[in-house]
Amino acid sequence: MKFFVDTADTAAIRELNDLGMVDGVTTNPSLILKSGRDIIEVTKEICDIVTGPVSAEVVAKDAADMIREGKHLATIAPNITVKVPLTWDGLKACKVLSSEGHMVNVTLCFSAAQAILAAKAGATFISPFIGRLDDINLDGMQLIEDIRVIYDNYDFKTEILAASIRSVNHITDAARVGADVITAPPSVIKSMANHILTDKGLAQFDADWAKTGQKIG
Ligand code: G3P
Repeated sequence: MKFFVDTADTAAIRELNDLGMVDGVTTNPSLILKSGRDIIEVTKEICDIVTGPVSAEVVAKDAADMIREGKHLATIAPNITVKVPLTWDGLKACKVLSSEGHMVNVTLCFSAAQAILAAKAGATFISPFIGRLDDINLDGMQLIEDIRVIYDNYDFKTEILAASIRSVNHITDAARVGADVITAPPSVIKSMANHILTDKGLAQFDADWAKTGQKIG
């Protein structure tokens, strides 16, 4: 399973990348806003840190302008993945950009039907949003499972990039049902290391070690 980091926070990306935890990065307009930085400048910095795909999202609504923006974003670095929304125009842009050799991430996917269209339009990645489906009492993980079955039935090469991940369980469940990639905020990735029994066990070892009066080294 590949790990993408869902952030434009370059310090957080560096920290995880130094640990070998980063296979790519995803950004979106909300994350650029949160970073407080210029989209081109921050995306270039991310591409200098990470060798894997870095998703940068277009904001235009019609296909021609999405293609123009996508081509501009792609000049930032060779590892740019152009992110387009799952609209009819987004699919048109996906088809053109992918045919011209660009990686394309089709985002804001909320149904298996949408995922089929993205695969047929040549998407490199499809981004189903788990958390936002759960938010409205639908089953985000079921969507990942459905897309997995459908893509495998027809040998679609588009990678399933589980997005809108809010918890460690989202990551392990996405791994269990066969998502190719997860993208998650740095805080969620880091919290994968936490377990109450690890903390408890460590406290016990510390207490017992203190009683030995020994030192190592
Ligand atoms: O990758 C998409 C992601 O950023 C959306 O997450 O938590 O805003 O639904 P969220």
